[in-house]
Amino acid sequence: MSQDNLKENLTWHQHQVTKEARAEQKSQKPCVLWFTGLSGSGKSTIANLLEKKLHSINKQSYLLDGDNVRHGLCGDLGFSDRDRVENIRRVSELAKLFLDAGLIVLTAFISPFRTDRDFARGLLEENEFVEVFVDAPLSVCEARDPKGLYKKARRGEISKFTGIDSEYQSPTNAEVRLDTEKHTAEECVDILIKYLTDNKFLN
Ligand code: ADX
Repeated sequence: MSQDNLKENLTWHQHQVTKEARAEQKSQKPCVLWFTGLSGSGKSTIANLLEKKLHSINKQSYLLDGDNVRHGLCGDLGFSDRDRVENIRRVSELAKLFLDAGLIVLTAFISPFRTDRDFARGLLEENEFVEVFVDAPLSVCEARDPKGLYKKARRGEISKFTGIDSEYQSPTNAEVRLDTEKHTAEECVDILIKYLTDNKFLN
């Protein structure tokens, strides 16, 4: 069977408990907060702190994190451009399902390519996708080097490392930009909570 015909004999089942009903039961407006940025920019730290804050105000969320997802669902993928595209495609579909379940989804992936982030956005309805650019210059991320990976990449022990010998395409239309050189992680969480409140994701 050709790739084009893969879905030919499949039927979409319309479930009776809808996305709206699940969200209403949780008293929240689900969305996907898509964190993107270089390794070491602060994506996971901020997403983790934000999730803690959401939990404390009784909001139900789920954080999908690159390093974790690559241990399981995407454990067969590496860091070639092609594998990164597939990584983000799977995570985008997963985020959509978790959103359908009524959750506030946080994703923390480098997601270096604009078209892939736009793919994730395109899977959702308007006002469900919030792109969060966790912005820090390469020099700052490299100085932080929390996992020692930049050092390894500079020594040539890791190839295709984002920012070194693999491209990172900065967002041009992110809903939120967090300057992590200027702001602490706690301040970034405050900025995000304000954004979510101002835009009626939180009440
Ligand atoms: S993405 O590019 O496909 O979005 P993802 O966020 O899942 O990447 O994984 C990035 C994490 O994998 C980094 O935080 C780092 O810990 C680790 N890593 C290992 N090798 C690389 C590499 N070549 N480039 C970037 N990150 C890498």
